[in-house]
Amino acid sequence: MKVISLLNEKGGVGKTTLATHIAAGMAIRGKRVLLIDADPQGHATVAFGLKKEPMLHDLIVRDLPFQKAVRRIKPEFYGVPGEPVKGDLLVVPSDTSTSVIPLMTSDIMAMRDRLVELEGILDVVIFDTAPTPSLFHNSIYMSTNAILYPTKCEYLSFDGLIESMKHKDDASKMRENMGLSPIVVGGIIPTMYRAGTQADDYGIQVLKERFGKLVWPEIKLRTVWNQASFARRILFNFAPETQATQEAWNAVTRAEAI
Ligand SMILES: Nc1ncnc2c1ncn2[C@@H]1O[C@H](COP(=O)(O)OP(=O)(O)O)[C@@H](O)[C@H]1O
Ligand SMILES: [Mg+2]
Repeated sequence: MKVISLLNEKGGVGKTTLATHIAAGMAIRGKRVLLIDADPQGHATVAFGLKKEPMLHDLIVRDLPFQKAVRRIKPEFYGVPGEPVKGDLLVVPSDTSTSVIPLMTSDIMAMRDRLVELEGILDVVIFDTAPTPSLFHNSIYMSTNAILYPTKCEYLSFDGLIESMKHKDDASKMRENMGLSPIVVGGIIPTMYRAGTQADDYGIQVLKERFGKLVWPEIKLRTVWNQASFARRILFNFAPETQATQEAWNAVTRAEAI
């Protein structure tokens, strides 16, 4: 089972958008996917039309069985119209109680220990995360195999990216001491790219100079992403034939290769 986390200590850079689309895309193509909403704002939860609930909190703090913590998303909410969904998509909903988890337990291995239960049952676990660093981020670092960093092509998002990477490096040292494998940086994903603007082209250039091949192809700023979000739908379902949807599929393909 592969565990992938979407991280950037800046809000509004596309973490939730990519987490939900990568999770849905992998499920459409046949993977058994669990998306864990680890943001107290619960945006990945509402993206699938689910109610914000303390399920992540109860999973970690109250030892709630997974069967009670997960919600199965009906294929008609995310699948490509007219095509069967080959896998399965489950979501652990979040609400403000997620921010209390570190106050209730200091065991940063608790999340990892719970995920062990899913080995052989699921193929992929995806974490959508909060921008503000918290002790729960350490639990995510202990649980994850790979990180994807969405970023806008502007300085403050890069700053969030760099801060996030520093925390990943700190966590990697902790993992090393525990005999765990290092965390892989799966990629840096430029999002909301304004094609043809000097500002964003400059941003991409800076990103590529610093991170080289880790930088994925840009995902362009397009209205259809907003329209799908307002409709609480996933692009594969909402607008299966657009260029934005193709860019989302390309991200799914790259995530599958991690
Ligand atoms: N490529 C895109 N083009 C246009 N809007 C986008 C794009 N990607 C994301 N958005 C919108 O930007 C907003 C912030 O994205 P979100 O995924 O919630 O960021 P984060 O989770 O990092 O805070 C959302 O309203 C989302 O619909
Ligand atoms: Mg978010």
